[in-house]
Amino acid sequence: MIIKKATFVISNTDVSLCPKDGRPEYAFIGRSNVGKSSLINMLTGVKGLALTSSTPGKTQLINHFLINDAWYIVDLPGYGYAQRGKKGREKIQQIIDVYLDKREELTCLFVLLDCRHEPQKIDLEFINQLGESGIPFAVIFTKTDKISQSKLNENVTKYKTKLMETWDELPPVFYTSAEHKKGREEVLGYIEGINDTAHGKR
Ligand code: GTP
Ligand code: MG
Repeated sequence: MIIKKATFVISNTDVSLCPKDGRPEYAFIGRSNVGKSSLINMLTGVKGLALTSSTPGKTQLINHFLINDAWYIVDLPGYGYAQRGKKGREKIQQIIDVYLDKREELTCLFVLLDCRHEPQKIDLEFINQLGESGIPFAVIFTKTDKISQSKLNENVTKYKTKLMETWDELPPVFYTSAEHKKGREEVLGYIEGINDTAHGKR
């Protein structure tokens, strides 16, 4: 897919203030610092479109970016950031929960996992909850430039094994590096396929 246009639209904590034009949207979620905002910049090819930081907890709002005047990318705050304190964490969790519960335009949620880590409880719990709420999702392993292919395979196999404990079928899985611009065509192609199906082009 060619990204001709990517523009920031609105940031807020309130789902009722999100765009109301009914265009499909694709949101990116995962633990703080997993690389959500960096991936969005890589996918759109617009450096600095989503704000990034080496310190976790950068994105605190629901951020809408309009792509090719046709669909939205949504950058969400990260979950589980310990340094934020209990109150801060609960506030962010509340924003995420309401968004996931109420936002009908959400077409697919990309759950980002840092490929350097072995399966983490917080991520597995989050993914399993999606099953209960029936939210369509795909998994993206981020920062693949940071480890060897063999270590990547090892961690991914562990993740898939864990997921198969609760799921009959694995979700679509992507591998990305914002640093090396890896996985761009795959993720954008996946989104394009869903958008085309929704418009009856298949
Ligand atoms: P929060 O908004 O705090 O939840 O974080 P986030 O998930 O949006 O992460 P962000 O994109 O801000 O990236 C966090 C850090 O990881 C930054 O220092 C990025 O430069 C770095 N980073 C993100 N993606 C990659 C990647 O693919 N490769 C490498 N090497 N670093 C990355
Ligand atoms: Mg962010």
